[in-house]
Amino acid sequence: MRVDLPEPGPEERAHGERLAALIRDEIAAAGGALDFARYMELALYAPGLGYYSAGAAKFGASGDFVTAPELGFIFARCLARAIAPVLRETHGDILELGPGSGALAAELLLELDRLDAVPARYLLLERSADLRERQRGRIARDCAHLANRCEWLDAPPAQAWRGALVANEVLDALPVRAFVLRDGDVFARTVGLDGEGRFSWRKIPADADLRTAVAHIIPDASRLPQPYTSEVCTLLAPWFSEVTRNLERGAAWFIDYGYSRHEYYSPQRNAGTLRCHWRHRAHDDPLVLPGLQDITAHVDFDALAEAGVSAGFNVDALQSQAQFLIDNGLDEIFANAYADASAETTRYALAQQVKRLTLPGQMGEAFRVVVLRRG
Ligand SMILES: C[S@@+](CC[C@H](N)C(=O)[O-])C[C@H]1O[C@@H](n2cnc3c(N)ncnc32)[C@H](O)[C@@H]1O
Repeated sequence: MRVDLPEPGPEERAHGERLAALIRDEIAAAGGALDFARYMELALYAPGLGYYSAGAAKFGASGDFVTAPELGFIFARCLARAIAPVLRETHGDILELGPGSGALAAELLLELDRLDAVPARYLLLERSADLRERQRGRIARDCAHLANRCEWLDAPPAQAWRGALVANEVLDALPVRAFVLRDGDVFARTVGLDGEGRFSWRKIPADADLRTAVAHIIPDASRLPQPYTSEVCTLLAPWFSEVTRNLERGAAWFIDYGYSRHEYYSPQRNAGTLRCHWRHRAHDDPLVLPGLQDITAHVDFDALAEAGVSAGFNVDALQSQAQFLIDNGLDEIFANAYADASAETTRYALAQQVKRLTLPGQMGEAFRVVVLRRG
């Protein structure tokens, strides 16, 4: 265990050990090493054991990280203003991917109700049974009168639908393939075991899929210092096509942290972007605390745009979160809430919320909003 990270408690340790045993079995069955994408898939989503599948409190002050909807209602109210015209025009639904605690769903529904643009249905695509329960509870508590519009899905809608797709901090949770460029050649970074049974990095020659993916994102590898370590989300395009398949007409909002491809695969960023969160500590070692810590990678926004275009979408906007919120009523929403707040502590919290959402050193610049339209 790294000395700079808080120690897990006995129950957490036992939970992590159960998942580690499952991953060790897969490593053995795979002949000694697992592709990193598979390791990340198991660490986050192994049924009942992965970080997002199991019952730990992930979101908010008591969890491991805080997302924009968890800070308060301002983010959702601005997003509602962006979405409302699409709902009015299509008389459609909202599909939210990875709805977390349900905070965004509840606040979006409340604000869309005020804007007279309530979706016909609010569809929540959530794989984790534990998170579904949490989302139901949140919606029942905060907007019970709209709860009958909510439907939970295991898979993207099987029938044609219209409206708005929303995904906040979902793309960064998709498993990525890790690679290293050395002497002009491409190697896959895989996960094996060291002499004491701990997970450790391995390096094997890349397979054809990884070579093709790396040649696409880095056509001129000679400009990069080597060894050059990074990652690529080969799952993004097929996943995108799947989740949007039956969206006949409407728009999709993806909010996440990431870079343009040029910024992502820059000479300076030669250690990749894998980030882990455990009790509000961020670090870059995904091989510790399996099942207990979140593992993320930054989003390549060019890859998202490419996936969108090849699925028949137009890229409507790519802007910083700060600019997106300002363009969608931030000033007015803040001013109204500030005027309504009777306590000084509430006003202070509102101001803090806006700072976290918009300041360049906080979420304002690192997070970007991509809007894609179809039909
Ligand atoms: C960092 S959390 C963000 C949660 C929430 N959207 C928020 O902003 O607080 C990532 C979420 O993405 C979900 N997720 C990951 N892969 C997914 C997939 N393939 N389809 C749908 N949701 C997914 C996870 O289950 C988790 O709820």
